[in-house]
Amino acid sequence: MTGGPPGDGGNVSPEGEEGEEAAALRLCLITAELAPFAKTGGLGDVCAALTRYLHGAGHDVRAFVPLYAKIDRGDHHFVAVEFLRNVPLALGPWELEFTVYTAAHPGAPSLGLYFIDCPALYGDGSFYTGTQEDALRFAFLGRAALTCCQRMGWSPEIVHCHDWHTALVPLDLRTLFSWDRLFAQTRTVLTLHNVGYQGVFGSQQLLARLGLESVAAKLHQEDLQVGRLNFLKTGLLYADLLTTVSRTHALEIQTQRYGMGLEEMLRARSDHLIGIVNGVDYEEWNPATDPHLPVHYDAEDPSNKGQVKQHLMAGMGISGDASTPLVGIVSRLTSQKGFDLCFEVLPELLRRRPQLRLVVLGSGERRYEEFFLSLEATYRGRVGFYRGYNNPLAHLIEAGSDIFVMPSLYEPCGLNQMYSQRYGTVPVVRRTGGLADTVEPFDPATGRGTGFVFDHFTPQGLQWALQRALDTFAEPALWSRLIANGMGRDFSWEKQIERYVALYRTLTTGIR
Ligand code: ADP
Ligand code: GLC
Repeated sequence: MTGGPPGDGGNVSPEGEEGEEAAALRLCLITAELAPFAKTGGLGDVCAALTRYLHGAGHDVRAFVPLYAKIDRGDHHFVAVEFLRNVPLALGPWELEFTVYTAAHPGAPSLGLYFIDCPALYGDGSFYTGTQEDALRFAFLGRAALTCCQRMGWSPEIVHCHDWHTALVPLDLRTLFSWDRLFAQTRTVLTLHNVGYQGVFGSQQLLARLGLESVAAKLHQEDLQVGRLNFLKTGLLYADLLTTVSRTHALEIQTQRYGMGLEEMLRARSDHLIGIVNGVDYEEWNPATDPHLPVHYDAEDPSNKGQVKQHLMAGMGISGDASTPLVGIVSRLTSQKGFDLCFEVLPELLRRRPQLRLVVLGSGERRYEEFFLSLEATYRGRVGFYRGYNNPLAHLIEAGSDIFVMPSLYEPCGLNQMYSQRYGTVPVVRRTGGLADTVEPFDPATGRGTGFVFDHFTPQGLQWALQRALDTFAEPALWSRLIANGMGRDFSWEKQIERYVALYRTLTTGIR
């Protein structure tokens, strides 16, 4: 890229400027998660949306994802692809075979979604095993996807990989698959959704198991010397272009504080690192049509929101009415999400403000689960905690809460703060990554802004922001303004898709 600040993407012209005749692109997307089939967090939402909206924009998109045992085959109509049955594919010395199934996406029946069925790898357990088996699962996924392209005789112009799981693909294309002219023009994009997860494994037996011994010289040498293979670093070395999911995060990960040890490599590639903030799939997250809500509302008339709040509180065993502020949380319960700050702040606020109500949905690290369980036990009738994963409840909390809290330590983008704004639920966030880029601090003097934003990762910071939110909630005119501002924000995917397409084109035309 010539000129322009890193993470800006600003010197890439939007697709529309290229004229109407711009050709459709052949795009291969490979991912560990794709909602609604396989999702543990935003990766699933974003890959599903990218696939669907790129398809909607007229591109030939084919997405590849494992057919995990955990995917309920009764919920979706999977059909085997005849010419992709029992395809042999070796992983190092291990002779495996896979069969490919398609399934119609609920929102886009003609979309090319391909599920790699390989019971030897994906036949047990959840999406992730948390063991070295994951290295095998996901190395195989990338190669199976490229093998499908070969069998289809389909030459993707872009292979778009996501996170560490598929970060070996750019290297595979330059090594294992380099003999095949089908990929001669193929370029790779790797999106960094979360550099906190890098896919780091002991390399000793793994190189042989993955068939990487002959290309060991191309791997990160210092890691190899200490017996490690880092999937994500491999992607950073070989992907033609790197993206992450907000402009602020593109800058943050080049610093020691946020780079998780990758900052030097990322700085070295800063010309090829672009931040594009995620969008919201308004077909799924829209209070006017959301099937998970008992009644509907929109920016013009948000009055039904109060009924959703009552419904939510009743369901969670919480008492209260329109005047009791209800704070919501929906999250993976990990240190990334900043819940360490809650240990001090939430009990203190609950003690000092008898009106305050709290509803929490999530699961993850034991210390956070125990904290919310004990808070619920102490403040029965005022705090409700649902431990686990529950998509309908996530929608209800987005809609029924007054305030939504995300005190993240780091947040590459974050989706819930954008969902909240559309649902008239005011976000309280820390100024980091996508939270900084998508929540505008509220200024009561001008009436501008959509939420409450604190800078320092300290209990005092969170407490300050929450208190301001609660004080403003007590002023109905200001609160209505705040809600209207948030509901009026446009985070639609269509705009962001144009940015991705513009980026893809810089690679296919060689003009950057
Ligand atoms: P991350 O990907 O880091 O988890 P995001 O904000 O990008 O964070 O995305 C989280 C997504 O996962 C949102 O769609 C959110 O509603 C969903 N989610 C998180 N935890 C749960 C849960 N326990 N139950 C249902 N949905 C959840
Ligand atoms: C990651 C990040 C989150 C982001 C999501 C989708 O898991 O933690 O901030 O929104 O991916 O890009």
